[in-house]
Amino acid sequence: SPIRVAILGATGAVGTELLELLASRNFPLADLKLLASPRSAGKTLEFQGEKLPIQVVDGSAFKDCDLVLASAGGSTSKRWAEEITKAGAVMVDNSSAFRMVPEVPLVVPEINPEAAQNHQGIIANPNCTTILMGVAIYPLHQIQPIQRIVVATYQSASGAGAMAMEEVKHQSRDILAGKTPQAEILPYPLAFNLFPHNSPITDNHYCEEEMKMVQETRKIFAAEEIRITATCVRVPVLRAHSEAVNLEFATPFPVDLAKTAIAKAPGVKLVEDWQKNYFPMPIDATGQDDVLVGRIRQDISHPNGLDLWLCGDQIRKGAALNAVQIAELLVERGWL
Ligand code: A2P
Repeated sequence: SPIRVAILGATGAVGTELLELLASRNFPLADLKLLASPRSAGKTLEFQGEKLPIQVVDGSAFKDCDLVLASAGGSTSKRWAEEITKAGAVMVDNSSAFRMVPEVPLVVPEINPEAAQNHQGIIANPNCTTILMGVAIYPLHQIQPIQRIVVATYQSASGAGAMAMEEVKHQSRDILAGKTPQAEILPYPLAFNLFPHNSPITDNHYCEEEMKMVQETRKIFAAEEIRITATCVRVPVLRAHSEAVNLEFATPFPVDLAKTAIAKAPGVKLVEDWQKNYFPMPIDATGQDDVLVGRIRQDISHPNGLDLWLCGDQIRKGAALNAVQIAELLVERGWL
């Protein structure tokens, strides 16, 4: 039966994509409520040709909701989680607030759909770089368990929200006009520049984004033994992330087998033309559902190593699409 849905953070980069996906994927909607901060009071957003009002979130907002898709940041998710679950709705949360809570499933439908079954009202959507890497390498992990992952990321501005995307455009215009670029949303100018990821540095000198890749990948794969190290970098790309991934197995992993597995796996697309030196690029991944994977090659430094390169739309599969796929999974299996 049709579902009553609320989007918390409807005006954001991920929120507007959620709206687009619910429409284009014909999600069985009974009702759609758009929630945001007081800054958005009085605004409207278009959905299937209709102007829907944006409501300021409050305690009564979640009555008459079956499902809340939350993408308004960790503190907003924490603030409203109890009200949402008390109202009897299931929360699919895009923030990092609950991802590592043991009883909260952390789900990528192509990898661990069954983990969603035992939810207690909250299901967490993983970090974007983690999702993109996960769908690309899980088909290989199923053939032969991955022992170690070394990953470097090239992350777009969209991960820091819609305002960060606008900031990079402004900075680019300023630089081309000979002016000094200003940075307010991101810590440093990103246009014509890059910097190590702006998430807080943790005690072990990794930043939080890097530790999310380590911890969340292990939780999603249900494989605490995988050793993972990551270097996350922000690059002046608007909305798709790229990653260079080195994988180590217990024995050699044939490159042809890796290519076949990735070519037929759900959610990924093999993109490589070695003659033309054409491989996945963020501009090609933008707006696409699939994660593009290519440059799959033997690691010449290790007999049991494989290298690959991937690009994926951070706002789609990295966030909004994965959340909608979780919602579809809950509906299909009757787990709502
Ligand atoms: P608003 O537009 O009213 O500020 P992004 O990730 O693109 O920066 O988007 C963040 C989203 O989260 C926006 O929709 C924003 O709404 C919403 N948001 C931010 N803070 C709050 C809050 N305190 N309560 C509700 N929504 C919030």
